[in-house]
Amino acid sequence: MTLKSRSKIVDLLKGGVVGTEVTAKGWVRTRRGNKNVAFIALNDGSTIHNIQVVADVTTFGDDFLKDVNTGACIMVVGQLVESPGAQQPVEIQAKNIEIYGKADAATYPLQKKGHSLEFLREIAHLRPRTNTFGAVLRIRHAMAYAIHKFYNDKGFFYLHTPIVTASDAEGAGAMFRVTTLDIENPPRSEDGKVNFTEDFFGKETNLTVSGQLEGELGALALSEIYTFGPTFRAENSNTPRHLAEFWMIEPEMAFYDIEDNMDLAEEFLKYLTSYALEHCKDDLEFLNKMWDKELIERLNFVASNKFVRLTYTEAVDILEKADQKWEFPVFWGADLQSEHERYLVEKHFKKPVILTNYPKDIKAFYMKQNDDGKTVRAMDVLFPKIGEIIGGSQREENLEALTTRMAEMNIPQDEMWWYIDTRKFGSAPHSGFGLGFERLLLFVTGMSNIRDVIPFPRTPNNCEF
Ligand code: 4AD
Ligand code: MG
Repeated sequence: MTLKSRSKIVDLLKGGVVGTEVTAKGWVRTRRGNKNVAFIALNDGSTIHNIQVVADVTTFGDDFLKDVNTGACIMVVGQLVESPGAQQPVEIQAKNIEIYGKADAATYPLQKKGHSLEFLREIAHLRPRTNTFGAVLRIRHAMAYAIHKFYNDKGFFYLHTPIVTASDAEGAGAMFRVTTLDIENPPRSEDGKVNFTEDFFGKETNLTVSGQLEGELGALALSEIYTFGPTFRAENSNTPRHLAEFWMIEPEMAFYDIEDNMDLAEEFLKYLTSYALEHCKDDLEFLNKMWDKELIERLNFVASNKFVRLTYTEAVDILEKADQKWEFPVFWGADLQSEHERYLVEKHFKKPVILTNYPKDIKAFYMKQNDDGKTVRAMDVLFPKIGEIIGGSQREENLEALTTRMAEMNIPQDEMWWYIDTRKFGSAPHSGFGLGFERLLLFVTGMSNIRDVIPFPRTPNNCEF
């Protein structure tokens, strides 16, 4: 026996070892009972379900059992037996209980059930011990695993792109600076500007907003790669769908055009949805009951129905004709807002939608230009309740078209020499996209605020924990 020797509650509940002596360890959710017997609901995070521990009051004593209360961490040794109660298949008849850590009843914040999600955000260090966050975190793990499995099974290679970069992939600004300069007293050049040649990397650096540009370098050698890592955006968007630090999955594929790209995106999202339905059943049932009564129905629907594909121009036409009051006006050339995206998905088509061929002026410099001179081969995948879940495109592989567009958009070509080099040497048609991991989790868990699908959210004015 080592300290870690124990059975996980998920395994005990399967009932295979009924009649044997078992050891369980975990956190007490509740204790109830009477003069003779105490019933302890124990959870170790391995499953949404608790195991019931039955403790004889005369054996353990009132004094001892009062410390086996909500929040305490304990070890239990006892016989696993079939439970006479209808609530649970099996229970542990305690022979020995050891308290690892007490939890003061007056100050432990998770006493009663039904705390608001807002309150739980303030105690994000303890919220993993609730049913809801246990479920979300297990699903988050399952999705991360499924993502690697999906790409590994297809022969894609996991490429680690850098987190500190000297370029802004999206050309959009809004980056977090990385520096070791003394901000109280930075070195300055003669013109009075901060002299970044004295900074750690000898130049200005930032946290990455996307691994795409380096991903392209990988795809133009390994054919099919994906990245899966943290990305950072310093936009001041305080919405239920934006984080300052979020995780993104970015596949990048040589020899894929925009159609191939859409096919992969659709297959990927359906795979992940089906994976969750198959492997996260208990947690999804809990979330369906607690937070979103249509969750499982929606997941089944997305897993089994073809996504609608149409152009941006067709979408604007539909939105202009819609009998709807918009907060943001719709016209050809406007960037679509969440209200427009959700109208298309939830009201008009009632299906996930992939929009293509956006106006070039609202999209990034690297997107493949169409012959019309106005649009680019961009694609956004729009989902119910979320709006944009994936953004991607075919990439401009033509050297001249790319550098002309970079000049038009004031993208510094000298700094991006390495990116441009790939269009000089063995350029190839290629495509890719980015899936926001937390947007995926919003969809799969049915939670409605992105702060509730990541363990420790980073948003404007919030970097606790
Ligand atoms: O549309 P975006 O900005 O695209 C890119 O970054 C491309 N470089 C991707 C590529 O083609 N390789 O972001 C991609 C996705 C969005 O569709 C959204 O799901 C998510 O990332 N996303 C965010 N998720 C949470 N918080 C934010 N602030 C996000 N910004 C984007
Ligand atoms: Mg986008």
